[in-house]
Amino acid sequence: MEQAYQQMQRKMRMSKIGDSIKHKIMVLSGKGGVGKTTVATGLALSLAKRGMKVGLMDIDITGPNVPKMLGLEDVQLHIEDGQIFPAIGPNGVKVISMAFLIEDPDKPVIWRGPIKLGAIQQFIGDVAWGELDALVIDFPPGTGDEPLTVSQTLPNLDGVVIVTTPQEVALLDSRKSINFAKTINVPVLGVVENMSGYTVSGTAPAGSEISIIGPNGAPLNVKVSDDGNWETKLDLFKSGGGESSAIDLEVPFLGALPFDPGVVRGGDDGVHRIVADPEGDTATAFDSVVEEILGQLSNSTSPDIKIT
Ligand SMILES: Nc1ncnc2c1ncn2[C@@H]1O[C@H](COP(=O)(O)OP(=O)(O)OP(=O)(O)O)[C@@H](O)[C@H]1O
Ligand SMILES: [Mg+2]
Repeated sequence: MEQAYQQMQRKMRMSKIGDSIKHKIMVLSGKGGVGKTTVATGLALSLAKRGMKVGLMDIDITGPNVPKMLGLEDVQLHIEDGQIFPAIGPNGVKVISMAFLIEDPDKPVIWRGPIKLGAIQQFIGDVAWGELDALVIDFPPGTGDEPLTVSQTLPNLDGVVIVTTPQEVALLDSRKSINFAKTINVPVLGVVENMSGYTVSGTAPAGSEISIIGPNGAPLNVKVSDDGNWETKLDLFKSGGGESSAIDLEVPFLGALPFDPGVVRGGDDGVHRIVADPEGDTATAFDSVVEEILGQLSNSTSPDIKIT
């Protein structure tokens, strides 16, 4: 009886979320390891930096990495009157992740479909999100149960951001994600190309030319400027693939994020690159992707919804 009552309350809360959370954005990729979690956390932090109230929901139940990337690993969630209060991360981002609820992070979580479904419904209906301008949702790779369940549970989803790296294999998989979004009737806000290029720099005699071996094994000549500095971008996994596949599939291209070793260090140390270096190239690239996303959202929402 009590369980039925709780379920009814959860359903009511789930239906209200459609209004209390203005924008809901899913972050997907066809292939694993392309940087979804890095991008989802980066988008949340960048949106929050603009003064928006932002939530971040980590639906990667088997490998929840968001708390680690945000330095929230040791957080104990506060639970009151059947409601779970999210952890507060950098820039005030409200974070909820299965990692907070798993006792032994080294033990694999093996959950069958219905239990997963229940957990996702709890994340949506039992969490005290409050009023939010945006909720960013991070998923495991691929087009499995999780995004399908969220699309069926969370009312008024704004759309999907697809993360890819520029290699052919990743691009092929992102085509699948785009088709998946179309199948579940959720708009595609656009494609982000991650690990897009790596900038190397150095010094050499002013006005000279240096030669380095490029990623394809061929020498690459770079002119040294008058102040003795040189800089060049190496396309580690080709370049421009995200943009060309976005054009091919007629979805918006939201921008490219550089390959940045500081992202790896930041992820491992629990200080996201955007927090560690808010004025750096990576943070700036995230800000411009956010700008594009907000542009897409304002195209797709009614004029009376104001985006700050
Ligand atoms: N732009 C980048 N430059 C350098 N390293 C990056 C970049 N983006 C992500 N990484 C690194 O790549 C690794 C995978 O990133 P991340 O965990 O965000 O990928 P994911 O798509 O969420 O993976 P999974 O599919 O396992 O959930 C991490 O070590 C991360 O630090
Ligand atoms: Mg991930």
